[in-house]
Amino acid sequence: MELEKKQYQIDFSKIRDRVRVFAPATVANMICGFDILGFAVDEPGDEVAMYRVAEPGVRIRSIAGDDGRLPLDADKNTVSACVKMLLAHLGLENELGVEIELTKHMPIGSGLGSSSASTVAGLFAINNLLGDPLSKAELMPFCVEGERIACGHGHADNVAPALMGGITLIRGYSPLDVIDLPVPNELYAGIVFPQVDVPTRDARQLIKQKVLLKDAVTQWGNIAGLIAGLYESDYKLISRSMQDVLIEPTRAILIPEFYEMKRIALSAGALSFGISGSGPSVVAITRGRDVAERATAEIQQHLTGCDIDSLKYVSAVNIGGPKVLG
Ligand code: HSE
Repeated sequence: MELEKKQYQIDFSKIRDRVRVFAPATVANMICGFDILGFAVDEPGDEVAMYRVAEPGVRIRSIAGDDGRLPLDADKNTVSACVKMLLAHLGLENELGVEIELTKHMPIGSGLGSSSASTVAGLFAINNLLGDPLSKAELMPFCVEGERIACGHGHADNVAPALMGGITLIRGYSPLDVIDLPVPNELYAGIVFPQVDVPTRDARQLIKQKVLLKDAVTQWGNIAGLIAGLYESDYKLISRSMQDVLIEPTRAILIPEFYEMKRIALSAGALSFGISGSGPSVVAITRGRDVAERATAEIQQHLTGCDIDSLKYVSAVNIGGPKVLG
């Protein structure tokens, strides 16, 4: 990670004793924009409570909601590792002590940007504790680094919307160029998580490294159409543009009942349906909440009939990203 050297003024008398932050889950790729598009949702999301303590260093006090799967070792846990990185960047690693309580409200390995929500919550919390010395844009490289620690690849299509809120485009990675896109106000996501584990690391290894030019032409036409549709709030254009011919055919194999869920969602009136991030969560993109509720209910009913447990979330696109809860 290359960061511009800059002097930040930290007023020690203004450092807060504690802060509690929520950061939202995200739907990366937005069906057709692999590694470049994503949006945040109002729920679920993760919470970080951070406490200033006398002994310098970063420690994890507790993690809830992870079924014991996440490391408590501050060097191995993504949240604390990123907080340490930020403190080191500010020259505060031997000056300041913080302890972290992480509460996960979403399943790990679900395709909902679980690690991103935690990382963003942690970095937003430490920045807030210090009196907000860094802008969101300045926090972004630390968030991307968290993604690299969590899954071995520094893609930004989860962390960018989790940090900025709304819909984001990663125009480029080197240097990182994040663009906020407009959010049509009736756009909803109906998410279903069939309870099987698909780690992002594995789901990325499956993808073919070469694509046919004719498929690339279809895909970039769809991405451009989707962006135009978002600017115009043109739901028909959004619907016909949100199609993925590059990644979905490979990853759908990992997701039980994928094509039947797609048929159900589209019959229920969804504008589009596809994989959320690297899966196994799937997402019905809809105009209005009612269609999202109907599509997810019918998908869950189908999965229950197949003996597959699932969770569902229906949400508008989140605006604003992380929030200080207290
Ligand atoms: N763009 C990433 C992928 C998102 O599809 O692998 C992971 O959630």
